[in-house]
Amino acid sequence: MCGIVGYYGKRNVPEVVLNGLKTLEYRGYDSSGMAFAGKNGLSIIKSVGKIKELEEKFKNNPINGTVGIGHSRWATHGVPSEVNAHPHIDCKNKIAVVHNGIIENFMELKNELIAKGHKFVSDTDTEVIVHLIEDNYTDNFEEAFKKSVPLLRGAFAIAVICADCPDTIFFARMKSPLVIGIGRGETFLASDVVAFLDYAREVVYIDNGQLGFIKKGKISMFDFDGNPIKYKTSMVLWDAEMAKKNGYKYFMLKEIYEQPECLAKTINGTIRNNDFYLPNFNIPVEHLKKIRRISIVACGTAYHAGFLGKYFIEELAKLPVDIDVASEFIYREPIISDDTLFIAISQSGETADTKEAVVKARKFGVKTVAVTNVVGSSITREVDGVIYTNAGFEKGVAATKSFTTQVLVMYVIALYLAKIREMISEETLLEYISELSSISQKIEIILQHKNIENIKMIARMYQNCRDFLFLGRNVNYPLALEGALKLKEISYIHAEGYAAGEMKHGPIALIDENCPVVVIMTKSKLYEKVISNVKEVAARKGLVIGIASEGDDTAKTVVKNLIKIPDASPYVSAILSVIPLQLLSYYIADVRGCDIDQPRNLAKSVTVE
Ligand code: AGP
Repeated sequence: MCGIVGYYGKRNVPEVVLNGLKTLEYRGYDSSGMAFAGKNGLSIIKSVGKIKELEEKFKNNPINGTVGIGHSRWATHGVPSEVNAHPHIDCKNKIAVVHNGIIENFMELKNELIAKGHKFVSDTDTEVIVHLIEDNYTDNFEEAFKKSVPLLRGAFAIAVICADCPDTIFFARMKSPLVIGIGRGETFLASDVVAFLDYAREVVYIDNGQLGFIKKGKISMFDFDGNPIKYKTSMVLWDAEMAKKNGYKYFMLKEIYEQPECLAKTINGTIRNNDFYLPNFNIPVEHLKKIRRISIVACGTAYHAGFLGKYFIEELAKLPVDIDVASEFIYREPIISDDTLFIAISQSGETADTKEAVVKARKFGVKTVAVTNVVGSSITREVDGVIYTNAGFEKGVAATKSFTTQVLVMYVIALYLAKIREMISEETLLEYISELSSISQKIEIILQHKNIENIKMIARMYQNCRDFLFLGRNVNYPLALEGALKLKEISYIHAEGYAAGEMKHGPIALIDENCPVVVIMTKSKLYEKVISNVKEVAARKGLVIGIASEGDDTAKTVVKNLIKIPDASPYVSAILSVIPLQLLSYYIADVRGCDIDQPRNLAKSVTVE
């Protein structure tokens, strides 16, 4: 996730901005920059790599000003480079902007501005903001800013400075976080409070649809229609560590709660105006029409996302799909011909086994695609095309938001292939695409307090069990595998995921009153079969924890504990069902006192074979 810092006050402005960027390093980034406005106009400095490289550059070019903004960039549009690093400036080198989020309508705005003679230098969506303000700026910068912001669509938190008003920071927020810090005769602006906790604890949280400016420390706030609004201040009592987690106990929990925002970004990064938007896919449609088989390879949680992709693609695009864990694929003799499309999934883009699998696949002369969360990661340099998950930096070792966004991307790929192969009607396709916009709001429902309290209660009940089984059928089978992995890796309880239909072929021998069985039993064509599997378990005193669809009145009669999720198509249901699995594992691990963000023996990215 990008980091934003702004400062006006009596301290050394570059020093405060640099320190702020250093405290935001935990958010993950690939480049950074600062801009200052003062008596010498606007000055700017940017660097690829770590903040210390920006600091080195600054030492050799000590620019300054009375007001400053800074940014650490997690690339989403445009590879990590100095040109694409923020701040971005206008044609006249008077205005600078830093941004966190995604401007959905940046292409149409960019085309309009280019037609008016504006010169763009970067590949980013952010740059349109500063040229838009420039285009609206005649003699009143505040008015130009208030006129420009409502034209932006998407998720954004922005900070802007202008050489003509070197005592003012302009800000606006829609979905991406932004907060003002109030000090003694000084004011701060940041993506989160940790950036200025050393200087100020009185804050103003900027809400969605709010914009304004801080002039000589005085805050003026408006809605996007330009109506003045009153703001309220609050006091931050967290220490810096807690602030980085935004008050959550662990990064994993913070990242679970980020999923509504992340999935909205994933949708915005792959679907535009009800059609596919895959700018880095790079596989010609003509080639895709000739594809007769898909091969998907990944590790761990990413493998489970690929497994879900198998079900999606086979059902929607009517293409056979092979699925392998990378460590097996690289040592077996796969039969791959040039009508195969090879898809590698990797959050980090650095997993050695998965990268090796890509190298092996390329030897067969097939087209290769990576689904990854890290722009410019190693795997992106090995493949023909990329689809980014846009989940933002994931710090918890246990994959959460990276998994749900991977699953969403696999669903988009399945729909895309179905459309190209004319296996789906335009009407059905639009129905599935329009359902995507409900995902974030449905996850918010799952995250409501009463549901969390229910999951916490279940976690306390089963915290000392030695074995768990996770069961599911069809798309819920890979979810069962993922639920088991989550529990294993953060609570150290042994857990196995199984196809529910497999119970009678052995695992049912495990069932007794000490063995909790988590069953994903959401509405589907196989619901009746899953119910009978649940009854088999219950008949042997098994403790069934059911994840069922809202409105299902049967489930509560056959399970011991029930977790409800909003009703949805089986494809979207698969994404929603993951949230309770993540939360159940989290709260069991928490009540067991485990180090959830850094589980024993595990690394976030396994860069060795
Ligand atoms: C999942 O919670 C684990 N952290 C692990 O299985 C992970 O998914 C696997 O190592 C693959 O990592 P990648 O997605 O970065 O390739």
